[in-house]
Amino acid sequence: MPDPYLIAGPVLRSLPPETAHRLGIHALRLGLAPSEKEAPDPILACEHWGLKFANPIGLSAGFDKDAEVMDAALRIGFGFAEAGTVTPLPQPGNPKPRLFRLPADRAMINRLGFNNGGLARFSERFARRDRGSSKGPAGANIGRNHCTGEKHAISDFEIGIEVLAGLADYLVINISSPNTPGLRDLQQRELLEELIGRCLKARARGMRRDAPPPPVLVKIAPDLDESEIRDIAELALETDIAGLIVCNTTVDRPSSLQSNFRNEAGGLSGAPLFDRARDFVAKMHRMTEGQIPIVGCGGVASGDDAYVMIRAGASLIQLYTALVFEGPGLVSRIKKRLAVRLRQDGFSAVGEAVGADFR
Ligand SMILES: Cc1cc2nc3c(=O)[nH]c(=O)nc-3n(C[C@H](O)[C@H](O)[C@H](O)COP(=O)(O)O)c2cc1C
Repeated sequence: MPDPYLIAGPVLRSLPPETAHRLGIHALRLGLAPSEKEAPDPILACEHWGLKFANPIGLSAGFDKDAEVMDAALRIGFGFAEAGTVTPLPQPGNPKPRLFRLPADRAMINRLGFNNGGLARFSERFARRDRGSSKGPAGANIGRNHCTGEKHAISDFEIGIEVLAGLADYLVINISSPNTPGLRDLQQRELLEELIGRCLKARARGMRRDAPPPPVLVKIAPDLDESEIRDIAELALETDIAGLIVCNTTVDRPSSLQSNFRNEAGGLSGAPLFDRARDFVAKMHRMTEGQIPIVGCGGVASGDDAYVMIRAGASLIQLYTALVFEGPGLVSRIKKRLAVRLRQDGFSAVGEAVGADFR
C-alpha cells in the first residue's frame, strides 16, 4: 500500500508550520496515523538503564511538548518517545513567526522558546499512562521558565525532576536549547555539577519508595567548545548521570544552506546537522570511554544515517525534523534498513554495533 503521507505530507507542508504540527498531534491523538503492523525485529531490541527498547529509534523532544501523544508515537513504531520540554509554569513561548521549514535543506529553524502547558497538566498525562501495557519507554524532558531569573534557574529543574521522578521512565535535563537566554550557560562545569547534584537529590525526594529511580540524562548543544565537551564528559563519568543526548539544535548556519529562511534566528535542525552530530557522538563516546550510553540526535533521516550514528557510538537514536518531511512511515523504513545493515555486517544485535568504528 502506498504511504498515505505522499498525499497528506504536501497538504500539511502547504500550511503554516505550527498549524501543520497541531494537526499532526490531533491526527496522532485520534489514532489516524497508521499503527505499525509488523512484528518487532529482534535484532533491533536493546536494553539500557533497566528499560527495554523494542528498537533504538526514538522521537526526540519538542514534537510532543505537552505529553499528548507519547503512546501514539510508540504505536507508529518508535522504540521510545520523549515528551517536553516542560517548564514548571505554562508559558506561551516567543512571538510568532518562530518556526520555519527549509525544504531545500531538509531542515528547520525554530525559536519557539519552550511554549508549553506547564508541569501540572504534563504530569497528569504521565500519571494517567498505563505503563504496564505501553509499547516502550516514555521520557520527560525538563527545562526552565523564561521568567525564572538565571539565579534561580536550577530550582525549576528540581521542581520538574521531583514531580516527574515517579511517573516518567527516564528524565532529561535540557540545558541546550538556544531559545531561552542563559540556559546553555548551565553547561559550564561548576554550574552543571551543582545542577546535577541538586537534580539527583530532587529525584530521590520524588521517588516512590518501592520503585527503581528513573535514569537522568543530560541533553547538550552541538555548539560547545573542546574544553566544555571535556568537562561534560568528565562529569558524566564522575556523577550518576545515566546518559547524554547528543545533541540539540545548533545556532550555527552552515554556508551550504539554500532556503529563504536560513538567516532566521533560532536553532537549526535536520540534515545539515547530521555530520556535526555524528562527530560529536563519536567524540563523546571516546571521551566517556564507551561507559555512558549516548542518544545520538541530529539530522537522522534514514536507516543508513541511524547505522552510521550507532557505529559512531550512539546506543539509541532520536529524530524529529525528518518526520516533518517524510511522515510517520519513515520510522518503519529506518528500522528495516538498519536491520539490513546490521545483518550485512555480521552483527546479531544492535548493541554489538555501538561504537564499532572505534574498535
Ligand atoms: C520545532 C522543534 C522544537 C524543538 N523543541 C525542543 C524542546 O522543546 N526540547 C528539546 O530538548 N529539544 C527540542 N528540539 C530539538 C530536537 O529534539 C532535536 O534535538 C533536534 O531537532 C535535532 O534532531 P533532528 O535534526 O532530528 O530534528 C526541537 C526541535 C524542533 C525542530
